Amino acid sequence: MNNNSKSKPHESAVGHVTGKAIYTDDQRLPSGILYLWPVLSPYGKARILKIDYSNLNNIPGVVTLLTADDIPGINNTGTIKHDEVLLPIDEINYWGQPVVWVVAETEIAAENGAKMIKIDYEPLTPILTIQDAIKNNSVHGDKNIMRRGNPTTALQKSDFILTGNIKIQGQDHFYLETQVTWVIPNVEGNYQVYSSTQHPSETQAIISEVLAIPRNQIVVTCLRMGGGFGGKETQANPTAAIAALAAQKTGYPTRIRLKRDQDMIITGKRHPFLGQYQVGFNQNGQLLALDIDLYSDGGWSADLSFPILQRAMFHIDNCYYIPNLEVRGQVVKTNKVSNTAFRGFGGPQGMVIIEEIIDRIARKLGLPAEVVRERNFYHGEGETNTTHYGQEIFDHRIFQVWEEVKIKSNFEQRKLEIEQFNQNHNYQKRGLAITPVKFGISFTKTEYNQAGALILIYLDGSIQLNHGGTEMGQGLQTKILQVASQALGVNIERFRIMPTSTDKVPNTSATAASSGSDLNGQAVKNACEILKKRLAEVAAKLLNLYEPEELVFEEDWIYCKNYPSHKIAFNEVVKQAYNQRVSLSTTGYYRTPNIYYDPKIGKGRPFYYYAYGAAVSEVEIDGFTGTFKLRQVDIVHDVGESLNPLIDIGQIQGGFVQGMGWLTMEELVWDEQGRLKTFAPSTYKIPTIKEIPKNFNVHLLQKAAQDGVIYGSKAVGEPPFMLAISVREAIKEAIAAFGKTDSIFLASPATPEAILNAIEQVQLKSVNPWEHLPV
Ligand code: MTE
Ligand code: HPA
Ligand code: MOS
Repeated sequence: MNNNSKSKPHESAVGHVTGKAIYTDDQRLPSGILYLWPVLSPYGKARILKIDYSNLNNIPGVVTLLTADDIPGINNTGTIKHDEVLLPIDEINYWGQPVVWVVAETEIAAENGAKMIKIDYEPLTPILTIQDAIKNNSVHGDKNIMRRGNPTTALQKSDFILTGNIKIQGQDHFYLETQVTWVIPNVEGNYQVYSSTQHPSETQAIISEVLAIPRNQIVVTCLRMGGGFGGKETQANPTAAIAALAAQKTGYPTRIRLKRDQDMIITGKRHPFLGQYQVGFNQNGQLLALDIDLYSDGGWSADLSFPILQRAMFHIDNCYYIPNLEVRGQVVKTNKVSNTAFRGFGGPQGMVIIEEIIDRIARKLGLPAEVVRERNFYHGEGETNTTHYGQEIFDHRIFQVWEEVKIKSNFEQRKLEIEQFNQNHNYQKRGLAITPVKFGISFTKTEYNQAGALILIYLDGSIQLNHGGTEMGQGLQTKILQVASQALGVNIERFRIMPTSTDKVPNTSATAASSGSDLNGQAVKNACEILKKRLAEVAAKLLNLYEPEELVFEEDWIYCKNYPSHKIAFNEVVKQAYNQRVSLSTTGYYRTPNIYYDPKIGKGRPFYYYAYGAAVSEVEIDGFTGTFKLRQVDIVHDVGESLNPLIDIGQIQGGFVQGMGWLTMEELVWDEQGRLKTFAPSTYKIPTIKEIPKNFNVHLLQKAAQDGVIYGSKAVGEPPFMLAISVREAIKEAIAAFGKTDSIFLASPATPEAILNAIEQVQLKSVNPWEHLPV
């Protein structure tokens, strides 16, 4: 396939813009469907003293309510750790926690019913910050350690040492479609669940535990999601379980669709992190030792916090060889939403921290940050090309993407121009920065790295295609269709891609860790190959050939490699296969080879391969307002041999902009009682079209096919998110131009307030340009 034919638009693109693409909540309403509305806790931490439902009967349309007493099975939705109570019995653990749910014939009746419920609480003092939690020893699980060499002695021997703290804040997923589930029970005790979930099999498992029925009585189907971004990896489960519980209790179909404010108040977000480090280096800026504690704010329950922290620890090196490194990780427990997966899964937090450290080293030594970065890249062979967890970087492409983006962005020349600009402008300053990305691909939980498919060919030659992955806008289904079409040698129009459903492929993994097309693509290809082998035997007979292996399947024809004109139509072979009683359906399966990790010693080869990229960002800061403009972004990113360049470029652009939002504008604010103040788009600002840089140049690394991955491609969903670190670094460059300084402390997110604060600090150490302000 040439690049043009691979650049298919998203298979639902027309449906998305015309409104014809059906999402869970767009389906035709089943008759008698009931609506649910939650009563949310007004306290961050409290004991429930009394719940008074007596006024509920006065509301017309109210059917019933759900409390902990209604749960026949396990009152818990914790996945890794069973610590997530679904309906609280006596303890409230965060502000906005759903306490009971009202079930009614209309949404408004359910809402009115919820207002009639009076709950008495005994308020307690919540723990709200990482520092608070550390002080009170409020933690989830134990400390996790990864270590190479001896940082303590290496620090003592270092020419320079820097000590510091970095705080990175969270991020709301802000998927356009909030959490939604419909449940349709039948009289035989089976449940058809439609859920906007990245992990249908886990949603099925959780419902099975809560309802105390076997999993085979539950089918969970995900049509498509209006965005997931990790926010529907586990966080779809509680609402799905509540809707199923209501269906079990009433016997009627049920529907939960959270309002935007409910969704933002109830569901978990990206983990805030605190890093406390000591770094040792020499006068060339070479890293010698890093000793670092990472604390992540898990919120009230563990959720996926342990693997997320572990991924942060795996990425604390980014692209840099650090000969002596100890990283200790601890998840702390606070009275906040239960933080969860979000694009990058801890990787971004680890990488922002090391990039911040590198920047501090550069400023301390008066060296350009990009020079310090380059000098520390993994290089050579053996030790200097091996991570702190013992994985050798066999497919090293750091220098390649770095050099290429430097040339493409005209980096050196623009640096000089910016210097000129800054000399001539007192109140506007520009900054240019380049940062690299190396991101490990595979679920760090090894058993998740498997996938299944199911293909059914019908006698008219049309085909149903099933696999375990879910579509959330990332283009997985488009890529899967392309893979199937190529693997089976038939026209893409033959396929109908089926909604993801647990009755088609069992025990699937979450569509996450960017591995959707890697895993499901291989499983689909495997199924196609099985079918092709069967059809080849039928076709060989029809073509009077002895060797079915010689056959080529291409564009709906099957022919002998040496005699392309001697061919037979795919449809004809399908019919003959049926007549000869050859099966026209099969499952396919794939597991990633050659990955392992031993958490006890903190060593292994957890990643099948790495994705690489580098970005150059240029910003201009306005010294009066602290606002910035992103003037230009150049990216070179490694997607291997792209399955679909159009979709991959979209993923790179989208990931970058989402990362920029996290680092520069999206600010979550809780008050001193633990109440989230920013639960609507009016107070929580995500990037809009206005923030997208005018000059946004994305290049895919060429001739980059990756061995052993589906058609040489590489995962693309998450890695580009971290290219946005270049924006934060460019802002620091521009801030530095306001004065003379050997350190910049820029809070994250870099809001106008944070930027003004940093400028002020820089100016305190230099001549004050504000003296010359016009009056
Ligand atoms: N792109 C869109 N449009 N919507 C999404 O929700 N999620 C991201 C990424 N890109 C997401 C997205 C996340 S967090 C992951 S892990 C991957 O897509 C998941 O899909 P994949 O494995 O098929 O790339
Ligand atoms: N990424 C995303 N989700 C996950 C992972 C991961 O590495 N491990 C377990 N769930
Ligand atoms: Mo993505 S955070 O792995 O769903």
